[in-house]
Amino acid sequence: NNTLLTDDFGRKHNYLRISLIEKCNLRCTYCMPADGIVLSPKTSLMNAEEIHAIAQTFVNNGVDKIRLTGGEPLLRKDFPEIIAKLASLGTEISITTNGILIDKHIAVLKEFNVAKINLSLDTLVPSKFQTITLRNQFEKVLGNLYLLLNNDFKIKINVVLIKGFNEVEIIDFIKLTEFLPLSIRFIEFMPFAGNEWDRSKMVSQKEILDLVQHHFSESHLEKLEDDKNFTAREFKIKNYLGSFGIISSITNPFCDGCNRIRLTANGKIKNCLFSNSETDLLTPFRNGESIDQLIAFAIKNKKKVRAGMTTIEEVNNPALNQDNRSMIAIGG
Ligand code: GTP
Ligand code: 5AD
Ligand code: SF4
Repeated sequence: NNTLLTDDFGRKHNYLRISLIEKCNLRCTYCMPADGIVLSPKTSLMNAEEIHAIAQTFVNNGVDKIRLTGGEPLLRKDFPEIIAKLASLGTEISITTNGILIDKHIAVLKEFNVAKINLSLDTLVPSKFQTITLRNQFEKVLGNLYLLLNNDFKIKINVVLIKGFNEVEIIDFIKLTEFLPLSIRFIEFMPFAGNEWDRSKMVSQKEILDLVQHHFSESHLEKLEDDKNFTAREFKIKNYLGSFGIISSITNPFCDGCNRIRLTANGKIKNCLFSNSETDLLTPFRNGESIDQLIAFAIKNKKKVRAGMTTIEEVNNPALNQDNRSMIAIGG
């Protein structure tokens, strides 16, 4: 039963992304504005029980996959409690993390079968890690990546490509997949409030594929079958253990198959990554009201492509996209 979560274009939203927190222990420049963001007051963030109860309503209506994001989700002091409660809903649960706190939480991730981890890591060069994240945590993240591998987690590495900064590492990242069972995803840089996006800073899907084809001959590059509701178009190098993909939200969007609905840390639905109109669930929930119709309303208002903005320049235009959030307060 998921008519409530089916939109006017026939898309069924069975995948809920919950942002747990607006804070992060890194300062990636493409995500966090240089002068920070105004944080929601702590009392307006969902607590563990509220997260569980609101997620339950989505699960009752057909959600079978939940991803926890942030900020950095592992910074939540009550992370173990949140996971334990969500695990009782019986859906798949996964997280997107910067990896710094993985060692601290690995036991709870294993206990509750959080087996798929998407790890943000934009460079394999320690000094460049400092440049992009403004923190000196490269060794920690790398150590935790190996910890995850040794514990058989299914790992995707998110690499946001910035022109002139890390596209020279595309081949190095792909070479990691020769002997490691990783999926590397190269991501086109997207505009969000305060991240100073500019088309010239973006590395496009075409540029990525050209580079790969130039390095590995055509006959070594294999196109894999994409997931039904994919973000990444998947490839691999023949005989390599892992694979790689390209997330091309800008030059080749994948909204037709979108099955995602987002819940912000302060309990509002975002019906699209780029939407600037949000639907508050937490306030009515706290008032004891039913939230089903609000969820239906948010889904009904979902636009066909990128929140109704046809060009990426519109997405990036503050005059047209006033209440857009910074990525740190969306969670990807
Ligand atoms: P899977 O659940 O493994 O498919 O993960 P994912 O790729 O959906 O999520 P992840 O959190 O790892 O995000 C990787 C990149 O995809 C980030 O840049 C996200 O912003 C982007 N992304 C995730 N979901 C969407 C989406 O619905 N639309 C767009 N345009 N980008 C998305
Ligand atoms: N463009 C593209 N991807 C981004 N991410 C964060 N900010 C951006 C951006 N501006 C990605 C990070 C993280 C995921 C949740 O979103 O790689 O892994
Ligand atoms: Fe879905 Fe919006 Fe992403 Fe398109 S841009 S795939 S509609 S969340």
